[in-house]
Amino acid sequence: MRDALTVVKKAAPVMPVGQFKSLDHAKACAELFAEAGVPAVEITLRHDDAWQMVKTFRDVMPKALIGVGTVLNRRQMLRAVDEADFVISPGFSRELSMLAHKTLTTYIPGVATATEIMAAMAEEHRVLKMYPATAIGGVALLKALTGPFPEAVFCPTGGISEANYQEYLALPNVACVGGSWLVPSEEALAKDRDGYLSMLHNLYSAVV
Ligand code: 3PG
Repeated sequence: MRDALTVVKKAAPVMPVGQFKSLDHAKACAELFAEAGVPAVEITLRHDDAWQMVKTFRDVMPKALIGVGTVLNRRQMLRAVDEADFVISPGFSRELSMLAHKTLTTYIPGVATATEIMAAMAEEHRVLKMYPATAIGGVALLKALTGPFPEAVFCPTGGISEANYQEYLALPNVACVGGSWLVPSEEALAKDRDGYLSMLHNLYSAVV
């Protein structure tokens, strides 16, 4: 059973957060990511075909860790246990935390405040998604949190882009960042697949 720290370390430096228009779009992105050697992906449950998209990613990227994101309730968590390598929520709930522990699910809950970090850490979660990172204080907030929470490890997501992701990665309490900017639209893919491929190659080949 892998733990959440292993997931975020493997995902580094950036975990693509997938929100796809269609199954075809998801499949084309999975093929691009497989070719580029992307190590881990979060597939959000924000489309009617999202579970099918998760399956597509698992089929096309057998070497990568495939996570299910935007998990908000028990039903989604219980399905994700069987169909994904790890589970991410945008916020923290004790109910989902307990279910994750009970089912031995690799779980990364979301937090936005010191109070939520305390609640999550009280339930043995020290690897946390910070969401929506940029809107709630971004790098300054994460720096401030190192004092009271030296053991917390964050994967900030939300509003992160090519322009600012390195500022986040430079922080000692950030293991990786999440972002949708690595996921090309169907139009961008048709226009510049090679450009995305080389951008992704550079991103992950720089990892030591
Ligand atoms: C998420 O669910 O983590 C976010 O929607 C991703 O945020 P971004 O689109 O700003 O990268």
